[in-house]
Amino acid sequence: MIIKNIGLLVGILEDGVLRKEGAAQGQTGTLEDAWLRIEDGRIAAFGPMATCPEGESLDACGGMLMPGFCDSHTHVVYAGSRDGEFLDKINGLSYEEIAARGGGILNSSDLLHRTSEDQLYSQSLFRVQEMMDKGTVALEIKSGYGLNPEDELKMLRVIRRIAGNVPATVRCTFLGAHAIGRGYTHEAYVDEVIGMLPQAAEYAQFVDVFCDEGFFTVEDTDRILSAAKGLMRPKIHANELAVSGGVQVGVRHGALSVDHLERTGDAEIEALRGSATMPTMLPGSSFFLGLPYGRAKDYLKAGLGVALASDYNPGSSPSGDMRFVMALGCIRMRLTPVEAFNAVTLNSAYAMGLSHEYGSVTVGKRAGLILTQPGWDLTKIAYQYQTPFIRKVFL
Ligand code: NIG
Ligand code: FE
Repeated sequence: MIIKNIGLLVGILEDGVLRKEGAAQGQTGTLEDAWLRIEDGRIAAFGPMATCPEGESLDACGGMLMPGFCDSHTHVVYAGSRDGEFLDKINGLSYEEIAARGGGILNSSDLLHRTSEDQLYSQSLFRVQEMMDKGTVALEIKSGYGLNPEDELKMLRVIRRIAGNVPATVRCTFLGAHAIGRGYTHEAYVDEVIGMLPQAAEYAQFVDVFCDEGFFTVEDTDRILSAAKGLMRPKIHANELAVSGGVQVGVRHGALSVDHLERTGDAEIEALRGSATMPTMLPGSSFFLGLPYGRAKDYLKAGLGVALASDYNPGSSPSGDMRFVMALGCIRMRLTPVEAFNAVTLNSAYAMGLSHEYGSVTVGKRAGLILTQPGWDLTKIAYQYQTPFIRKVFL
């Protein structure tokens, strides 16, 4: 199929560039008045309208065509909701205080335990459908509300079932170390997580640890990642609640990404330099919890790349809207629209090992694309951040 009369084709990138760092993150290839051909679900060719080939076509009517959003950090498989805690939060309790009362992640874990696997599947599928409608074409989903072998496996099976039943590409992360499961001592639970690793690796490409104050220590993280070596690549929750050391331990273990980073100093930036690890910030949780926003600009100045993801979960970011994430990147983190665009496409694809397949307009990549209404560009998406802009999502 040929898409013709594209007002603006954005995200054009030569083959082989897997992420954008430093000044390069502020650049993207564009072509005005263009066509693009899709064959077998992949981008086959594109060019200026003067060279448009004959054939079955869709008229873009001057709309912008861009790579779809890639969301490298979500917890969309969860049961029910935590709207009760929303009221606690409104009444002044912090995320840590809610968790310390046995709410938070443990609350979701209890709910998940009581929810049938089919129910969990259909509730979660509904959220993924919502994300695809909003332009997400590839996403990562974590376990971590099971917190015992049986319920973690239930989550992993649900993630696999979703992956097999949606047109978006889904990557799976084992986050057994999300909180200490009920009935375990801290030590015993870390041992249990280590015991679960081989079986989890049958489902998951990645392993995650919530390395933060009140959850898992650097030593716990080191033990878990050492045991996971050769089974799953790390993607770490770090520096959300405190300067946790999570970035450094993640980089040491060759993490594909370190995520959150609301609280980081220059040492974290230094640790990331020259590594293959993608710093990933989650402005939706800064927004929802009232936390500081990550220092994305300083990372770029240091020559690093930055990815942005939604963190869609019931406790800290109950939204998977990547357009809003991109807008927060601009409005609150002072990223330019192009920097934010690369953060929610190519770099977030990189952060889940998918940037050879998604995240740019490159011949051979999957045609996961968003066609906008006429007259849109990257700036307007972030600026007029609530006006519907999508005409069609290609998956
Ligand atoms: O990324 N910080 C840890 N985990 C999630 C929140 C999970 C929850 O509260 O349910 C996060 O913010
Ligand atoms: Fe998270």
